[in-house]
Amino acid sequence: MSDNRPIGVFDSGIGGLSTTRTMATIMPHESFVFLGDSKNAPYGDQEQPTILNYSRNNVEFLLKKNVKAIVIACNTATSAAKAQLVNEFPEIPIIGIEPALKPAVVQGNQHILVLSTALTMKLPKFQTQYQKYQAHTDILLRPLPGLVDIIETGVIEGPQIDQFAVDNLLSFEDKGVDSIVLGCTHYPFVRNSFAKLFPNVQFYDGFDGVSKRVISLLSQADLLAENTHKQTIDFYSTEDTPTEINRYQSLFDRYQVLPSDLVI
Ligand code: DGL
Repeated sequence: MSDNRPIGVFDSGIGGLSTTRTMATIMPHESFVFLGDSKNAPYGDQEQPTILNYSRNNVEFLLKKNVKAIVIACNTATSAAKAQLVNEFPEIPIIGIEPALKPAVVQGNQHILVLSTALTMKLPKFQTQYQKYQAHTDILLRPLPGLVDIIETGVIEGPQIDQFAVDNLLSFEDKGVDSIVLGCTHYPFVRNSFAKLFPNVQFYDGFDGVSKRVISLLSQADLLAENTHKQTIDFYSTEDTPTEINRYQSLFDRYQVLPSDLVI
């Protein structure tokens, strides 16, 4: 049995394009429908019930596109809404993304810097992991309010991003950081600016983990696409203008998939 219907993906905005690009590379026969809620981004500075409402609307939009599974390509929405969405929409598999702290710990890193939205860090999903690992590993936490706003304007490199990185991360330079967890799907777009300050660290974005879960779930449910199926990727935004869709397409094309993410 196989199923050539697309996988639905949503994020608060353009961050989820990084996740979608990686999944589309790993799963070349799967089609994707991406929805960015750019009208309501950023999610990270808002309240949990508000994000649940936005996320519910996103799921309903994607269901109308006849998707076979939904990936929440947003750490904030996963923490704030995934459990509730799974209850409300039992008819469709829903997969979320969370900061890849566990892989960073398991691979033996000792000084892990976690970057995410303030809300992701505050909610129980991340806190449970953090409490578990911080007893034996040095885990440094840094929310980055304001960064998603810049990235949402389409700026993913150059002086503005480099300066943001210096202003927010320079104080960690002498902390012996050996790994950085990019716990927000917008941040991989600006990884190169972070790498200028931390040239020797390993970055963890969690995309390989999400891809692995999607493949395993689709395969258990006999929902994988045929290996002759030609991939299509459609972009939608709650800022529904042709310019916005072109912007999504070009950011999707510009995103550089990490070779390490392809080893799943
Ligand atoms: N891309 C998001 C995440 O992974 C959302 C950031 C935001 O909208 O604040 O958390």
